[in-house]
Amino acid sequence: MPRAPDHDSISNDALDAARRLVRDAERVVVLTGAGVSADSGVPTFRGAGGLWKEYRAEELATPRAFERDPRLVWEWYAWRRDIVRGCHPNAAHLALASFAASRDGVLIVTQNVDALHVRAAHDVARGDARALPVELHGSLFRARCTACGRREPHDEPVDASSVATLPVCARCGGLLRPDVVWFGESLDSRIIAHAFDAAARADVCLVIGTSAVVQPAASLAAATREAGGVVVEVNPEPTPLTAIADVSIRAGAARTVPSIVGQAAHGAP
Ligand code: OAD
Repeated sequence: MPRAPDHDSISNDALDAARRLVRDAERVVVLTGAGVSADSGVPTFRGAGGLWKEYRAEELATPRAFERDPRLVWEWYAWRRDIVRGCHPNAAHLALASFAASRDGVLIVTQNVDALHVRAAHDVARGDARALPVELHGSLFRARCTACGRREPHDEPVDASSVATLPVCARCGGLLRPDVVWFGESLDSRIIAHAFDAAARADVCLVIGTSAVVQPAASLAAATREAGGVVVEVNPEPTPLTAIADVSIRAGAARTVPSIVGQAAHGAP
């Protein structure tokens, strides 16, 4: 009778390969999505638990949704902030922060707005700028004025019981909105250029916990590949990027990333 595949040894081979590629790389770009925070208890957007009340993220994270019902959209963001406040960076966030702070040539690019990479940078890398992520889609903990455009850190509780109680700009009194990128909006061109430049110069693009269906983030790995680098994917499920991944680790981030980037989760640089 044919033997069933030995899944442990398959994943160990993949882990060894990933570890070697990362160790030998001069430049590494790390792209993360909601899956890197799943082990911290932050819900992902798609898949099980991806709904809030009867709404999908795509129905609420749009400028139209905010124009139509800013109270509802703020209520959703306040709910997400509350969840994230109760979560902590996991071993993957901590290992990545430690790795990025330990050497030059590593850039963490995240689609997440949960600020867990930022908290990890403060926890294990004393806020070392090299460990701070490029936040492609903004942050739950910043707000932007819909009238004057001023951005500000925003961590206060939001009273979303009526439009009248929503947060307003300290400078001009305009309605504030979450400082996140919504569907149908463009990403900040300088931020996206910085991320693509790093991806094109990277020897390794390490893609962790993204379904890779939202552009332009999903194309970062292709930029590395087209420039001659390799792609390593960490995701329990296959994604559209699996086809161009040189190594695929079919497992969760907290379990595998610390061993791939070779940093003890709590080791300060
Ligand atoms: P998704 O929710 O689309 O995908 C999460 C991915 O994480 C899936 O591929 C899961 O298989 C994987 N995953 C789940 N648990 C994991 C674990 N423990 N370790 C590693 N991976 C795990 O989230 P994103 O790809 O981040 O955009 O979504 C991209 C963008 O779509 C978000 O930034 C957001 C959303 O709409 C905006 O809000 C603009």
